[in-house]
Amino acid sequence: MISESELERIRSDFPILKNGVGGKPIIYFDSGCVSLRPRQVMHAMNEYYEEYPACAGRSIHKLGKKVSDKLAEARRTFAKFLGARKAEEVIFTRNTTEGINLVAHSLKFSKGDVVITSDREHNSNLLPWQLLSKRSGVEHKIVYSTDNMEFDLEKFKEMMNDNVKLVSLVHSSNLDGYTLPAAEIVKIAHENGSLVMLDGAQSAPHRQVDVRKLDVDFFALSGHKMLGPAGTGVLYGKCELLEEMEPFMLGGDTVQNSTYNSYVLLKPPEKFEAGLQNYAGSIGLAEAARYIEKVGKEKIEKHEHELNKLISERLLKIKSASIIGPKQVELRSGVVSFNIEGMNFHDVAVMLDENNIMVRSGQHCVHSWFNAHNIPGCVRASLYLYNTIDEAGKFLDVLAGIARLR
Ligand code: ALA
Repeated sequence: MISESELERIRSDFPILKNGVGGKPIIYFDSGCVSLRPRQVMHAMNEYYEEYPACAGRSIHKLGKKVSDKLAEARRTFAKFLGARKAEEVIFTRNTTEGINLVAHSLKFSKGDVVITSDREHNSNLLPWQLLSKRSGVEHKIVYSTDNMEFDLEKFKEMMNDNVKLVSLVHSSNLDGYTLPAAEIVKIAHENGSLVMLDGAQSAPHRQVDVRKLDVDFFALSGHKMLGPAGTGVLYGKCELLEEMEPFMLGGDTVQNSTYNSYVLLKPPEKFEAGLQNYAGSIGLAEAARYIEKVGKEKIEKHEHELNKLISERLLKIKSASIIGPKQVELRSGVVSFNIEGMNFHDVAVMLDENNIMVRSGQHCVHSWFNAHNIPGCVRASLYLYNTIDEAGKFLDVLAGIARLR
Protein backbone atom coordinates (compact mmCIF):
# COMPACT_ATOMS: atom_id res chain seq x y z
CA MET A 1 0.00 0.00 0.00
CA ILE A 2 1.00 3.63 -0.28
CA SER A 3 2.52 4.60 3.10
CA GLU A 4 0.74 7.08 5.35
CA SER A 5 3.41 9.72 4.94
CA GLU A 6 3.39 9.40 1.15
CA LEU A 7 -0.43 9.54 1.13
CA GLU A 8 -0.28 12.75 3.12
CA ARG A 9 2.11 14.23 0.58
CA ILE A 10 -0.01 13.02 -2.35
CA ARG A 11 -3.19 14.42 -0.82
CA SER A 12 -1.58 17.80 -0.30
CA ASP A 13 -1.16 18.03 -4.12
CA PHE A 14 -4.95 18.00 -4.63
CA PRO A 15 -6.44 21.39 -3.71
CA ILE A 16 -9.99 20.05 -3.34
CA LEU A 17 -8.88 17.51 -0.73
CA LYS A 18 -7.35 20.36 1.26
CA ASN A 19 -10.20 22.85 0.77
CA GLY A 20 -13.17 20.49 0.90
CA VAL A 21 -16.68 21.56 -0.11
CA GLY A 22 -18.90 23.83 1.95
CA GLY A 23 -16.17 24.12 4.56
CA LYS A 24 -16.12 20.36 5.16
CA PRO A 25 -13.71 17.68 3.88
CA ILE A 26 -14.87 15.44 1.06
CA ILE A 27 -14.49 11.72 0.45
CA TYR A 28 -14.12 11.39 -3.29
CA PHE A 29 -15.03 7.87 -4.46
CA ASP A 30 -15.93 8.78 -8.07
CA SER A 31 -12.56 8.56 -9.80
CA GLY A 32 -13.93 5.97 -12.25
CA CYS A 33 -15.93 8.85 -13.72
CA VAL A 34 -13.47 11.73 -13.34
CA SER A 35 -10.36 11.70 -11.16
CA LEU A 36 -9.20 14.68 -9.13
CA ARG A 37 -6.24 16.60 -10.53
CA PRO A 38 -3.01 17.51 -8.76
CA ARG A 39 -1.66 21.06 -8.87
CA GLN A 40 1.31 19.88 -10.99
CA VAL A 41 -1.08 19.17 -13.88
CA MET A 42 -2.82 22.52 -13.54
CA HIS A 43 0.54 24.23 -13.31
CA ALA A 44 1.75 22.61 -16.55
CA MET A 45 -1.41 23.74 -18.33
CA ASN A 46 -1.17 27.29 -16.99
CA GLU A 47 2.44 27.44 -18.06
CA TYR A 48 1.35 26.86 -21.66
CA TYR A 49 -1.20 29.68 -21.52
CA GLU A 50 1.12 32.07 -19.70
CA GLU A 51 4.48 31.37 -21.33
CA TYR A 52 4.04 29.95 -24.83
CA PRO A 53 0.38 30.20 -25.87
CA ALA A 54 0.97 29.47 -29.56
CA CYS A 55 0.52 26.76 -32.20
CA ALA A 56 2.64 23.63 -32.72
CA GLY A 57 4.07 22.49 -36.03
CA ARG A 58 3.34 25.61 -38.03
CA SER A 59 4.73 28.93 -36.82
CA ILE A 60 8.51 29.18 -36.87
CA HIS A 61 8.75 31.85 -34.17
CA LYS A 62 10.09 31.11 -30.67
CA LEU A 63 6.69 30.46 -29.12
CA GLY A 64 5.65 28.11 -31.91
CA LYS A 65 8.90 26.18 -31.52
CA LYS A 66 8.41 25.85 -27.77
CA VAL A 67 4.89 24.41 -28.21
CA SER A 68 6.20 21.94 -30.80
CA ASP A 69 8.99 20.85 -28.43
CA LYS A 70 6.64 20.49 -25.45
CA LEU A 71 4.13 18.51 -27.52
CA ALA A 72 6.87 16.20 -28.81
CA GLU A 73 8.03 15.70 -25.23
CA ALA A 74 4.44 14.91 -24.16
CA ARG A 75 4.23 12.30 -26.93
CA ARG A 76 7.50 10.70 -25.83
CA THR A 77 6.28 10.64 -22.22
CA PHE A 78 3.19 8.76 -23.32
CA ALA A 79 5.10 6.34 -25.51
CA LYS A 80 7.15 5.45 -22.43
CA PHE A 81 4.07 5.37 -20.18
CA LEU A 82 2.45 2.76 -22.44
CA GLY A 83 5.59 0.93 -23.54
CA ALA A 84 5.14 1.91 -27.21
CA ARG A 85 8.05 1.45 -29.61
CA LYS A 86 7.81 4.95 -31.07
CA ALA A 87 6.34 8.30 -30.12
CA GLU A 88 4.65 8.30 -33.56
CA GLU A 89 2.37 5.55 -32.31
CA VAL A 90 0.76 7.99 -29.85
CA ILE A 91 -2.18 10.02 -31.21
CA PHE A 92 -3.63 12.72 -28.99
CA THR A 93 -7.42 12.60 -28.87
CA ARG A 94 -10.20 14.16 -26.81
CA ASN A 95 -10.90 10.95 -24.86
CA THR A 96 -11.26 7.16 -25.12
CA THR A 97 -14.51 7.58 -27.05
CA GLU A 98 -12.74 9.53 -29.78
CA GLY A 99 -9.92 6.97 -29.91
CA ILE A 100 -12.36 4.10 -30.42
CA ASN A 101 -14.38 6.05 -33.00
CA LEU A 102 -11.17 6.90 -34.83
CA VAL A 103 -10.44 3.19 -35.27
CA ALA A 104 -14.07 2.38 -36.14
CA HIS A 105 -14.06 5.00 -38.89
CA SER A 106 -10.47 4.72 -40.14
CA LEU A 107 -9.73 1.01 -40.26
CA LYS A 108 -10.83 -0.51 -43.57
CA PHE A 109 -13.85 -2.71 -42.90
CA SER A 110 -15.78 -4.62 -45.56
CA LYS A 111 -19.26 -6.11 -45.58
CA GLY A 112 -19.16 -9.46 -43.80
CA ASP A 113 -16.29 -8.51 -41.44
CA VAL A 114 -17.00 -9.29 -37.80
CA VAL A 115 -16.25 -7.13 -34.75
CA ILE A 116 -16.38 -8.82 -31.35
CA THR A 117 -17.00 -6.97 -28.08
CA SER A 118 -17.86 -8.19 -24.58
CA ASP A 119 -21.25 -8.01 -22.86
CA ARG A 120 -20.26 -5.13 -20.54
CA GLU A 121 -18.95 -2.47 -22.83
CA HIS A 122 -19.29 1.19 -22.08
CA ASN A 123 -21.48 2.85 -24.74
CA SER A 124 -18.29 4.21 -26.30
CA ASN A 125 -17.19 0.69 -27.28
CA LEU A 126 -20.64 -0.49 -28.27
CA LEU A 127 -22.42 2.24 -30.22
CA PRO A 128 -19.66 2.81 -32.83
CA TRP A 129 -19.91 -0.88 -33.79
CA GLN A 130 -23.70 -0.75 -33.98
CA LEU A 131 -23.38 2.25 -36.30
CA LEU A 132 -20.75 0.51 -38.41
CA SER A 133 -23.01 -2.49 -38.62
CA LYS A 134 -25.89 -0.34 -39.87
CA ARG A 135 -23.77 1.59 -42.37
CA SER A 136 -21.34 -1.00 -43.73
CA GLY A 137 -22.80 -4.42 -43.09
CA VAL A 138 -20.12 -5.29 -40.54
CA GLU A 139 -21.40 -7.92 -38.12
CA HIS A 140 -21.16 -7.12 -34.42
CA LYS A 141 -20.96 -10.14 -32.10
CA ILE A 142 -20.83 -10.30 -28.32
CA VAL A 143 -18.89 -12.71 -26.15
CA TYR A 144 -20.92 -13.24 -22.97
CA SER A 145 -19.24 -13.48 -19.55
CA THR A 146 -19.26 -16.54 -17.29
CA ASP A 147 -21.73 -16.76 -14.40
CA ASN A 148 -19.02 -15.25 -12.18
CA MET A 149 -18.74 -12.31 -14.60
CA GLU A 150 -15.31 -13.31 -15.88
CA PHE A 151 -14.25 -13.27 -19.54
CA ASP A 152 -15.21 -16.59 -21.14
CA LEU A 153 -12.07 -17.63 -23.03
CA GLU A 154 -13.61 -20.89 -24.24
CA LYS A 155 -16.64 -19.17 -25.75
CA PHE A 156 -14.33 -16.56 -27.24
CA LYS A 157 -12.17 -19.23 -28.92
CA GLU A 158 -15.30 -20.81 -30.40
CA MET A 159 -16.36 -17.46 -31.88
CA MET A 160 -13.09 -16.82 -33.67
CA ASN A 161 -12.98 -17.39 -37.43
CA ASP A 162 -11.51 -15.80 -40.55
CA ASN A 163 -14.21 -13.14 -40.67
CA VAL A 164 -13.28 -11.60 -37.31
CA LYS A 165 -11.47 -8.42 -38.29
CA LEU A 166 -11.33 -6.80 -34.86
CA VAL A 167 -11.80 -7.76 -31.22
CA SER A 168 -12.56 -4.58 -29.24
CA LEU A 169 -12.83 -5.05 -25.48
CA VAL A 170 -12.96 -3.09 -22.27
CA HIS A 171 -9.64 -3.84 -20.51
CA SER A 172 -10.89 -2.99 -16.99
CA SER A 173 -14.63 -2.58 -16.63
CA ASN A 174 -16.11 0.66 -15.31
CA LEU A 175 -19.08 -1.41 -14.19
CA ASP A 176 -17.36 -3.73 -11.73
CA GLY A 177 -13.58 -3.20 -12.03
CA TYR A 178 -12.96 -6.59 -13.67
CA THR A 179 -9.79 -6.76 -15.77
CA LEU A 180 -9.81 -9.34 -18.52
CA PRO A 181 -6.87 -11.61 -19.45
CA ALA A 182 -5.70 -9.33 -22.24
CA ALA A 183 -2.47 -11.13 -23.18
CA GLU A 184 -4.28 -14.47 -23.68
CA ILE A 185 -7.04 -12.80 -25.66
CA VAL A 186 -4.55 -11.02 -27.93
CA LYS A 187 -2.68 -14.28 -28.53
CA ILE A 188 -5.85 -16.14 -29.53
CA ALA A 189 -7.01 -13.27 -31.75
CA HIS A 190 -3.66 -12.95 -33.51
CA GLU A 191 -3.47 -16.70 -34.12
CA ASN A 192 -6.74 -16.20 -35.97
CA GLY A 193 -5.45 -13.18 -37.90
CA SER A 194 -7.70 -10.71 -36.02
CA LEU A 195 -6.72 -7.33 -34.59
CA VAL A 196 -7.33 -6.33 -30.96
CA MET A 197 -8.23 -2.96 -29.46
CA LEU A 198 -8.47 -2.39 -25.70
CA ASP A 199 -10.55 0.33 -24.09
CA GLY A 200 -8.03 1.29 -21.42
CA ALA A 201 -9.98 4.14 -19.82
CA GLN A 202 -10.17 2.28 -16.51
CA SER A 203 -6.94 0.29 -16.69
CA ALA A 204 -4.22 2.76 -17.70
CA PRO A 205 -4.81 5.04 -14.68
CA HIS A 206 -4.63 2.16 -12.20
CA ARG A 207 -2.21 -0.55 -13.32
CA GLN A 208 0.88 -1.26 -15.38
CA VAL A 209 0.01 -1.41 -19.07
CA ASP A 210 2.67 -2.34 -21.60
CA VAL A 211 1.22 -2.33 -25.11
CA ARG A 212 4.27 -4.07 -26.54
CA LYS A 213 4.22 -6.89 -23.98
CA LEU A 214 0.48 -7.30 -24.50
CA ASP A 215 1.08 -7.06 -28.26
CA VAL A 216 -2.26 -5.23 -28.51
CA ASP A 217 -2.90 -3.40 -31.81
CA PHE A 218 -4.82 -0.37 -30.48
CA PHE A 219 -5.21 0.99 -26.97
CA ALA A 220 -7.40 3.99 -26.07
CA LEU A 221 -7.38 5.99 -22.84
CA SER A 222 -8.80 9.20 -21.36
CA GLY A 223 -6.95 11.94 -19.51
CA HIS A 224 -9.77 12.86 -17.15
CA LYS A 225 -9.65 9.47 -15.40
CA MET A 226 -5.89 9.53 -14.83
CA LEU A 227 -5.29 12.87 -13.09
CA GLY A 228 -5.26 14.69 -16.42
CA PRO A 229 -7.39 17.43 -17.96
CA ALA A 230 -10.90 16.84 -19.34
CA GLY A 231 -11.07 16.65 -23.12
CA THR A 232 -7.72 14.86 -23.44
CA GLY A 233 -6.84 11.31 -24.35
CA VAL A 234 -4.50 9.04 -26.26
CA LEU A 235 -4.94 6.40 -28.90
CA TYR A 236 -1.99 4.05 -29.26
CA GLY A 237 -1.80 2.17 -32.53
CA LYS A 238 0.89 -0.03 -34.07
CA CYS A 239 2.79 2.05 -36.58
CA GLU A 240 2.20 -0.24 -39.56
CA LEU A 241 -1.57 -0.18 -38.95
CA LEU A 242 -1.71 3.59 -38.53
CA GLU A 243 0.23 3.98 -41.79
CA GLU A 244 -2.45 2.03 -43.68
CA MET A 245 -5.46 3.74 -42.13
CA GLU A 246 -7.28 6.69 -43.68
CA PRO A 247 -8.16 9.45 -41.22
CA PHE A 248 -11.87 10.11 -40.79
CA MET A 249 -11.29 13.79 -40.11
CA LEU A 250 -9.08 15.97 -42.27
CA GLY A 251 -7.96 19.57 -42.08
CA GLY A 252 -5.11 21.77 -40.90
CA ASP A 253 -1.89 19.97 -40.02
CA THR A 254 -2.94 16.61 -41.48
CA VAL A 255 -1.41 17.16 -44.93
CA GLN A 256 1.99 17.91 -46.42
CA ASN A 257 0.47 19.56 -49.46
CA SER A 258 -2.81 20.09 -51.27
CA THR A 259 -4.09 21.35 -54.62
CA TYR A 260 -7.67 22.24 -55.60
CA ASN A 261 -8.36 18.56 -56.20
CA SER A 262 -5.77 16.49 -54.33
CA TYR A 263 -3.81 16.23 -51.10
CA VAL A 264 -0.82 14.35 -49.68
CA LEU A 265 -1.24 13.24 -46.09
CA LEU A 266 1.38 13.62 -43.39
CA LYS A 267 2.56 10.48 -41.61
CA PRO A 268 0.96 9.27 -38.36
CA PRO A 269 0.28 10.66 -35.82
CA GLU A 270 -0.18 14.08 -37.50
CA LYS A 271 -2.55 12.80 -40.17
CA PHE A 272 -5.00 11.88 -37.40
CA GLU A 273 -4.76 15.16 -35.47
CA ALA A 274 -6.84 17.55 -37.56
CA GLY A 275 -7.18 21.21 -36.67
CA LEU A 276 -5.71 23.20 -33.83
CA GLN A 277 -5.06 20.86 -30.92
CA ASN A 278 -5.55 21.08 -27.17
CA TYR A 279 -1.84 21.73 -26.50
CA ALA A 280 -2.30 22.72 -22.87
CA GLY A 281 -4.35 19.55 -22.39
CA SER A 282 -1.80 17.18 -23.93
CA ILE A 283 1.01 18.83 -21.98
CA GLY A 284 -1.05 18.59 -18.77
CA LEU A 285 -1.85 14.96 -19.55
CA ALA A 286 1.84 14.14 -19.88
CA GLU A 287 2.39 15.73 -16.47
CA ALA A 288 -0.35 13.45 -15.09
CA ALA A 289 1.44 10.42 -16.56
CA ARG A 290 4.68 11.50 -14.89
CA TYR A 291 2.84 11.94 -11.58
CA ILE A 292 1.45 8.39 -11.78
CA GLU A 293 4.85 6.97 -12.69
CA LYS A 294 6.48 8.77 -9.80
CA VAL A 295 4.10 7.18 -7.31
CA GLY A 296 4.38 3.82 -9.10
CA LYS A 297 1.67 1.94 -10.98
CA GLU A 298 2.11 -1.28 -9.02
CA LYS A 299 1.86 0.60 -5.75
CA ILE A 300 -1.32 2.33 -6.92
CA GLU A 301 -2.89 -0.97 -7.98
CA LYS A 302 -2.04 -2.60 -4.66
CA HIS A 303 -3.31 0.38 -2.69
CA GLU A 304 -6.69 0.34 -4.42
CA HIS A 305 -6.92 -3.40 -4.05
CA GLU A 306 -6.32 -3.23 -0.28
CA LEU A 307 -8.96 -0.52 0.11
CA ASN A 308 -11.42 -2.48 -2.02
CA LYS A 309 -10.81 -5.59 0.12
CA LEU A 310 -11.59 -3.66 3.25
CA ILE A 311 -14.71 -2.04 1.77
CA SER A 312 -16.05 -5.23 0.14
CA GLU A 313 -15.62 -7.32 3.29
CA ARG A 314 -17.43 -4.83 5.51
CA LEU A 315 -20.05 -3.99 2.88
CA LEU A 316 -21.10 -7.61 2.62
CA LYS A 317 -21.70 -7.65 6.40
CA ILE A 318 -24.63 -5.33 5.71
CA LYS A 319 -27.31 -7.99 5.13
CA SER A 320 -29.24 -6.02 2.51
CA ALA A 321 -26.11 -5.23 0.43
CA SER A 322 -25.00 -7.05 -2.71
CA ILE A 323 -21.96 -6.44 -4.92
CA ILE A 324 -22.00 -6.53 -8.74
CA GLY A 325 -19.11 -8.36 -10.41
CA PRO A 326 -16.86 -11.33 -9.71
CA LYS A 327 -17.02 -12.75 -6.19
CA GLN A 328 -13.23 -12.50 -5.70
CA VAL A 329 -12.36 -8.96 -4.70
CA GLU A 330 -8.90 -9.30 -6.29
CA LEU A 331 -10.63 -9.37 -9.69
CA ARG A 332 -12.41 -6.05 -9.14
CA SER A 333 -9.45 -3.62 -8.79
CA GLY A 334 -10.61 -0.35 -7.18
CA VAL A 335 -14.31 -0.54 -8.02
CA VAL A 336 -17.15 -1.54 -5.67
CA SER A 337 -20.54 -1.50 -7.40
CA PHE A 338 -23.41 -2.42 -5.14
CA ASN A 339 -27.06 -2.16 -4.26
CA ILE A 340 -28.90 -2.01 -0.95
CA GLU A 341 -32.02 -4.12 -1.30
CA GLY A 342 -35.19 -2.06 -1.10
CA MET A 343 -33.38 1.23 -1.64
CA ASN A 344 -33.03 3.23 -4.81
CA PHE A 345 -29.39 3.60 -5.88
CA HIS A 346 -29.77 7.35 -6.55
CA ASP A 347 -31.27 7.85 -3.07
CA VAL A 348 -28.29 6.08 -1.52
CA ALA A 349 -25.90 8.30 -3.52
CA VAL A 350 -27.76 11.46 -2.47
CA MET A 351 -27.62 10.44 1.21
CA LEU A 352 -23.89 9.76 0.87
CA ASP A 353 -23.48 13.15 -0.80
CA GLU A 354 -25.22 14.80 2.15
CA ASN A 355 -22.20 13.52 4.10
CA ASN A 356 -19.80 14.88 1.46
CA ILE A 357 -19.12 11.34 0.19
CA MET A 358 -19.14 11.39 -3.62
CA VAL A 359 -20.02 8.21 -5.53
CA ARG A 360 -21.73 7.58 -8.85
CA SER A 361 -25.16 5.98 -9.21
CA GLY A 362 -27.11 4.75 -12.22
CA GLN A 363 -26.03 2.60 -15.16
CA HIS A 364 -22.58 4.13 -15.68
CA CYS A 365 -22.99 4.26 -19.50
CA VAL A 366 -23.25 0.45 -19.57
CA HIS A 367 -27.02 0.50 -20.15
CA SER A 368 -26.82 -2.65 -22.29
CA TRP A 369 -25.59 -4.81 -19.38
CA PHE A 370 -28.18 -3.46 -16.94
CA ASN A 371 -30.98 -3.95 -19.51
CA ALA A 372 -29.86 -7.50 -20.23
CA HIS A 373 -29.83 -8.33 -16.51
CA ASN A 374 -33.00 -6.45 -15.68
CA ILE A 375 -31.22 -4.44 -13.00
CA PRO A 376 -32.20 -0.75 -12.96
CA GLY A 377 -28.80 0.51 -11.77
CA CYS A 378 -26.38 0.54 -8.85
CA VAL A 379 -24.19 2.66 -6.61
CA ARG A 380 -20.51 2.69 -7.53
CA ALA A 381 -17.58 3.62 -5.31
CA SER A 382 -14.42 3.92 -7.40
CA LEU A 383 -11.08 4.44 -5.68
CA TYR A 384 -7.76 6.01 -6.53
CA LEU A 385 -4.31 6.71 -5.18
CA TYR A 386 -5.43 9.54 -2.87
CA ASN A 387 -8.06 7.53 -0.95
CA THR A 388 -7.34 6.34 2.58
CA ILE A 389 -8.32 3.61 5.03
CA ASP A 390 -9.87 6.29 7.19
CA GLU A 391 -12.12 7.39 4.30
CA ALA A 392 -13.12 3.79 3.64
CA GLY A 393 -14.10 3.42 7.31
CA LYS A 394 -16.18 6.63 7.30
CA PHE A 395 -17.90 5.60 4.06
CA LEU A 396 -18.87 2.24 5.56
CA ASP A 397 -20.13 3.80 8.81
CA VAL A 398 -22.37 6.22 6.88
CA LEU A 399 -23.53 3.48 4.51
CA ALA A 400 -24.43 1.16 7.39
CA GLY A 401 -26.54 4.01 8.82
CA ILE A 402 -28.26 4.52 5.46
CA ALA A 403 -29.01 0.79 5.13
CA ARG A 404 -30.70 0.86 8.55
CA LEU A 405 -33.23 3.39 7.18
CA ARG A 406 -34.78 0.76 4.90
N1 ALA B 1 -17.17 5.97 -17.94
C1 ALA B 1 -17.39 6.89 -16.89
C2 ALA B 1 -17.93 6.23 -15.67
O1 ALA B 1 -17.97 5.03 -15.60
C3 ALA B 1 -18.17 8.03 -17.33
O2 ALA B 1 -18.33 6.91 -14.75
